[in-house]
Amino acid sequence: MANGRKMKKEETLVIIKPDALCQKVVGKVISIIEENGLKIKGLKMIHLNKKDAKNFYIEHKGKDFYTPLVNFMSSNPCIVMVVSGNNAIRKMRKIAGKTNPKDAKPMTIRRMFARDGRHNIVHASDSKKSAKREIKFFFKRNEIFDWKYINYKL
Ligand code: CMP
Repeated sequence: MANGRKMKKEETLVIIKPDALCQKVVGKVISIIEENGLKIKGLKMIHLNKKDAKNFYIEHKGKDFYTPLVNFMSSNPCIVMVVSGNNAIRKMRKIAGKTNPKDAKPMTIRRMFARDGRHNIVHASDSKKSAKREIKFFFKRNEIFDWKYINYKL
């Protein structure tokens, strides 16, 4: 139990978006994720084409920000990651902060680095169901590693 909540080991999907690459904050974003006790189980760089970006964000089809979002997400490569840990889905959303950096709490990734509600540095799955779909969207099971913490002594 943590804060009265039951601990659940979960996997979530994180995208470090094209604006993070251009702002050279990829390393900082990954460090924040690791420093918050989350474990990286899969990671790769991909350049989404428009069709894949449209499919990934299909739930937003019809909204005014959909086409600009698809254009942005396919404008340059992204880093996609499978991140795990206790309550990883909720924890990662908390670390990311609210969609629009103006609404995000201080010290969250989006508050620190995002320019606006579209160019908002990271995506993190919003539910167990989304995490399952989104991880499958980018990763084959053999690209996700169940590695162990070992205290290597020099
Ligand atoms: P993300 O967490 O990747 O999920 C959907 C994305 O749509 C979101 O981050 C933003 O990049 C974008 N988005 C959501 N709401 C808006 C908005 N009101 N205006 C522009 N972009 C948005």
